[in-house]
Amino acid sequence: MTSDRIPSSIPFLVLFIVAASFVACSHTPPNANIETAGVSFVHDIVPILESRCLVCHHQANAPNCSGLNLENRQLAFTTGRNSPIIIPGDPDHSPIVTALVASETQPAFMPPVAHRLSDSQLELIKAWIREGAEWPTSSTGTLSRPGS
Ligand code: HEC
Repeated sequence: MTSDRIPSSIPFLVLFIVAASFVACSHTPPNANIETAGVSFVHDIVPILESRCLVCHHQANAPNCSGLNLENRQLAFTTGRNSPIIIPGDPDHSPIVTALVASETQPAFMPPVAHRLSDSQLELIKAWIREGAEWPTSSTGTLSRPGS
C-alpha cells in the first residue's frame, strides 16, 4: 500500500518544482535597475560613440583600427574586419558587443583602457541594438570626433 502512495505524491512534487522555478524566474533580472527601455540614438548612443570611440574609429584613422569607421550609419554597418559589427535585434551576436565585453586579456578587448565604457553605457548599447539599432541616415546620424 505504501508503494501506491509514494508515486501519487510525485505529480505534486513536480508541480511544486515547476511552480518554484516560475517564482525564481520572475525575479528581476540583473541590471533591471538601469533604465534601458526606449533608448534614444541621439540622446543616449551618440554621446557614447562620439566621446569613447570616434577618437580612433574615424575616416583617417580607421585603417589602424580594423578598418572600422563609426562616423555614420552606412559606414558603421559596412566597415570593420568582422563587418557588420552591429546586428539589429541581436546584441549577443553583434561583434561590437563582443568587443566591448571582452576581458582585458582577449585580443578583442575594446576600447582601450582609457576609453572603457561604464556598465550603464554598455547596457545602453545592448538595449539600443536589441531595440533595432536605429541610426538615422540623415545628418542627425553623422557623428563627429571629439574636438573636431
Ligand atoms: C584608442 C583608440 C580606440 C578607441 C578609443 C576605440 N577603439 Fe575600437 N579599435 C581600435 C583598434 C586599434 C582596433 C583594431 C584592433 C585589432 O586589430 O585587433 C579596434 C577594433 C575595434 C572593433 C573590431 C572591429 C572588427 O570588425 O573587427 C570594434 C567592434 C571596436 N573597435 C569598437 C569600438 C567601440 C564601440 C569603441 C568605443 C566604445 C572603440 N572601439 C574605441 C582602437 C580604438
